[in-house]
Amino acid sequence: MPCYACRSPRGRRVFCMPQRFYVTTPIYYVNDKPHIGHAYCTILADVAVRAHRLLGDETYFLTGTDEHGQKVQEAAAKRGIDPQAHCDELHAAFKSLWPQLLCAPDQFIRTTEPRHKAVVQRALARLYERGLVVPREFEGWYCVPDERFWTEKELAGGNCPTCGRQVVRLKEKNWFFLMGQFQQPLREAIQSGAIAIHPASRANEVLGFLDKPLQDLCISRPKSRLSWGIELPFDPDYVTYVWFDALLNYATAVGFLDADPPTDGAQWPEPRLAGDGNFDGWWPHVAHFLGKDILTTHAVYWPTMLMGLAQAFDRPIDAWLPRRFVATGWFLVDNTKMSKSLGNVVSPLGLAERMGPEVLRWFVLREMVVGLDANFSEEAVLRRNNVELANDLGNLVQRTVALVEKWFGGRVPPPSGSEPTTPAQKAVREVAELLLRPATAADVADPVWTGDRLAPATVTIRSFRLHRLAADGLALVGRLNELIQHDAPFRTVRDNPAAAAQTLYCALEGLRIAATLLQPILPASAPEILRRIGAGETLIALPDLRWGQLAPDSPVAGGAPLFAKYEPAVAPALATQVQPPASATPPVAESLAPPPEVLVKVEAVRPDVSIDQFGALDVRVGTVTLAEPVPKSSKLLRLLVDLGEAAPRQILSGIAESFGAGELVGQQVLVLANLAPRKMMGLQSHGMVLVSEDALGRRVLVQPARPVNPGAGVR
Ligand code: MSP
Repeated sequence: MPCYACRSPRGRRVFCMPQRFYVTTPIYYVNDKPHIGHAYCTILADVAVRAHRLLGDETYFLTGTDEHGQKVQEAAAKRGIDPQAHCDELHAAFKSLWPQLLCAPDQFIRTTEPRHKAVVQRALARLYERGLVVPREFEGWYCVPDERFWTEKELAGGNCPTCGRQVVRLKEKNWFFLMGQFQQPLREAIQSGAIAIHPASRANEVLGFLDKPLQDLCISRPKSRLSWGIELPFDPDYVTYVWFDALLNYATAVGFLDADPPTDGAQWPEPRLAGDGNFDGWWPHVAHFLGKDILTTHAVYWPTMLMGLAQAFDRPIDAWLPRRFVATGWFLVDNTKMSKSLGNVVSPLGLAERMGPEVLRWFVLREMVVGLDANFSEEAVLRRNNVELANDLGNLVQRTVALVEKWFGGRVPPPSGSEPTTPAQKAVREVAELLLRPATAADVADPVWTGDRLAPATVTIRSFRLHRLAADGLALVGRLNELIQHDAPFRTVRDNPAAAAQTLYCALEGLRIAATLLQPILPASAPEILRRIGAGETLIALPDLRWGQLAPDSPVAGGAPLFAKYEPAVAPALATQVQPPASATPPVAESLAPPPEVLVKVEAVRPDVSIDQFGALDVRVGTVTLAEPVPKSSKLLRLLVDLGEAAPRQILSGIAESFGAGELVGQQVLVLANLAPRKMMGLQSHGMVLVSEDALGRRVLVQPARPVNPGAGVR
């Protein structure tokens, strides 16, 4: 059946039809406690799952722990305990963390579970029988921490090319999976989109890797060197390479090669193939979320393993391709790599306990463009909490509900008509309807979403640009705040209650849509907002969500502020150690006044200039037609600004920390148009956008009070 909106046939890219969505996170090593990097990946996957459910999809969410291999064996040895006892203890730190961050996986898998061992052994036995796993005498450079062999050519300055540490020369017999023979089919699968890698730049990285001959993969480790692993079914002197074991978890979890456990001493029963469990139902819908550092293992080893297995089990080699990968960037802390030795490892639990899990969820979704690196700083967490959650969203709910309680008996006031009557109402309505509109064929043709217009939420979600969900929801909240400010219902209500009713209905209705869109990120507060504004707690799925569904006369409910504000001086230390200090200062109670520690920077008075000197500056009004992040830069946005010239100008602006790219499109800005062109991050910038700074240090656009023609001069 074709998608009803974009007419795309099912089986190709279908944006609008409900689908299945099987999402996985990497399984985390149990050699250490969880940190914010782990939390980011799981939170992102959780947001994706909830967002897909909002689209009406049937979802399944898997996470777990990676418990074999050298790292874990060493961690256990350091503690002087048995590896299994170590795993039993440490896996719990991960398992119990997720509910505390409001992440709700459907399954938590451990690679030491007997059912997983059985799958790994069955897979290996079949590959061996069919000649796809063979023994070889091998000599190479071995990186102990990464547990990987490298060829001479692959070394970087004589060291491991991934971690930079020293390698040792090792010669031994090992077992190899004939990965090299799947190089061409893998390349074709990526090029044709049968395997999609997001963001697209990462797909190019993998294709670049595949330009070099693909080596066969060493999938064993001699027990003499490493005993903590799954024994090879055909050679008891060896255990399985940890990545071969770990990657299979994604398939084990949904019933791949399922079989009843063998009774003592019995032969392995012939595995039941896909179709007997629910593997066939979920596998075509899999999306693997992972960090950029483990892209090769996922996008090269894993698909080729599945091609080999399909071949060994007499299926077409593309029968079990992993369909989608979403490679995320890394969190730095205060612009430095997190490390225990620097003592800057951020505990997600510490943060969630002090400020609430939703602050963490909101922060990571706002701060990190999916696929790019981002920076964690205490100051940025506080700013996003105080400004975006507490002020922009929380206060808006509070004020709107309070007005309805005071002037309309606590019931949703009826709008005087179905059409907006003021420009501010029109602006709210426009943004809401843009976000809710179904995907069009053009959207489907441009799934990467170049960002020159507000994306419909369906496209945002299906193209994994989940940071946009936060930014676009916040853009709607911004329009709602402008609505209250411009239409001023608290003033008009005395003389024109019908006008105030119309404004407040629009505010409540806009809030209902914003809360629904933000529910995947704020799964506790969003239903509470819906309850307070009289919309009930039940979510309406996106395909059915329309403007005007809020029933007039429904009771609203006031309550305590939704989000606490924190003052920098007394805010709890967030970026400390994994183990938070026991005597941390508790958060101060919320305060609606701006934080007292506000520093307004007053620029020093500069020497006088003549009017001619001022006239030499060509300042003009422009309209932003495109805004997007600059890869590898946390500060810069790339803008296209229409200055009334033949083509919009490219301007790089250091405002990424203060604006989501989605907020800027359509805005008018002042541009210093004759600033000498400058190259930043490899891109030319032809001008400068003029900004000021608010009391919290956020950049604020300097704009004309009314729209003017692009290119209009400033005197
Ligand atoms: N066990 C393997 C994954 C096997 S999946 C079949 C592993 N585990 S890990 O615990 O080391 O890392 C898990 C994930 O955390 C990876 O995706 C990694 O990119 C991510 N992160 C680790 N540090 C990170 C940051 N500082 N920031 C964001 N994510 C980072 O690799």
